[in-house]
Amino acid sequence: MKDLFEKIYKDKGPLGKWASQAEGYFVFPKLEGQISNRMKFQGKDVITWSINDYLGLANHPEVRKVDAEAGAAYGSAYPMGARMMSGHTELHEILQKELAEFVSKEAAYLLNFGYQGMVSTIDALVNKNDIIVYDVDAHACIIDGVRLHMGKRFTYKHNDVESLEKNLDRATKMAEQTGGGILVISEGVFGMRGEQGRLKEIAALKKKYNFRFLVDDAHGFGTLGETGAGAGEQQGVQDDIDVYFATFAKSMAGTGAFIAADQEIIDYLKYNLRSQMFAKSLQMQLVVGARKRLQMLKTMPELKNKLWENVNALQSGLKERGFDIGTTQSCVTPVYLEGSIPEAMALVKDLRENFGIFCSIVVYPVIPKGLILLRLIPTATHTLEDVDITLDAFDAIRARLENGTYKRLSAAVMAAMGE
Ligand SMILES: Cc1ncc(COP(=O)(O)O)c(C=O)c1O
Repeated sequence: MKDLFEKIYKDKGPLGKWASQAEGYFVFPKLEGQISNRMKFQGKDVITWSINDYLGLANHPEVRKVDAEAGAAYGSAYPMGARMMSGHTELHEILQKELAEFVSKEAAYLLNFGYQGMVSTIDALVNKNDIIVYDVDAHACIIDGVRLHMGKRFTYKHNDVESLEKNLDRATKMAEQTGGGILVISEGVFGMRGEQGRLKEIAALKKKYNFRFLVDDAHGFGTLGETGAGAGEQQGVQDDIDVYFATFAKSMAGTGAFIAADQEIIDYLKYNLRSQMFAKSLQMQLVVGARKRLQMLKTMPELKNKLWENVNALQSGLKERGFDIGTTQSCVTPVYLEGSIPEAMALVKDLRENFGIFCSIVVYPVIPKGLILLRLIPTATHTLEDVDITLDAFDAIRARLENGTYKRLSAAVMAAMGE
């Protein structure tokens, strides 16, 4: 019989195999300093384009003050226990009411982390007779939620309404046999490429098919829509979203998340979300901090306006200079280049060391082989000067990529990897 660890000794996984070349620099980098547009990386000043602090709240003095006061008042333990047992408070309820009102739903429920919360939400909404139909590019937390499902599931092609319809046809036939219902899941904004989910078109299919609609709006909440209530608001279909999900990990610059829906659905979920029933309540400092952030998000439109000024300057600047930024419809700004993984490493190193630009790099297997995706996340803390410096740096690195500089620099890495 094999030792369980044998496979792990042999194969570190598609990303893990790069650890010796990448760790500490390309993955698990240590950014230092306060969260803002400028931070330090390995002792050097860098413009940071890799943090989802969209509205610049993470280090806003008013936010820091409330966080510190809440920490002093409650410590980091309070309340102890799960919500159902001993971890429930008035402030948890108040925050839920405020969130529900903001996203135009009857009720909301707090989640300790978005990831586990989404997994449990999917788990709680379906039973073995139900069918899940979800976008093939869905976030890992949606995929893991679907993995728990004991019944049938279908993926539809990314943001492809025709493919969704085909799968809804299949799901409808199947549900008639099993006696179950259908759950459709999309993201409000797809975080890698920045496209909005086609929520309006999906919602329109409700006239033809009988399904409930769950939307993960992690990147849309706070950044999209007239009031910042997200992709559903922007596309005018918030009412057609049956269960709305957003995390505090992005615009809210905190930790935690929530789901919002009709009162009866939330009442059900709060008794059936296993990751919340059997885990410690969201700590009070985060609850108090989230209330402050939500209040600022609602009352300070200048934050979202500044964010979008930067998004528009960066995205139009990149397009004018001939960069391929794909089909983004959000703040997420991908830049697609062609090259191998070692070339991508050399390029990113050049960006960081010689141009002071820190952005995330995404390569195969997250995107197809031969493509390099540099992912830029503008925030309200960036300046137009940051944008100009970055655009010039991108021109320079593209020229070096095209003239083979990075191929030469990466030869040693390639040899080491046997590529
Ligand atoms: C689309 C999406 N859903 C869910 C999550 C998970 O949220 P959390 O960080 O609160 O666990 C993330 C990442 O933060 C995300 O990007």
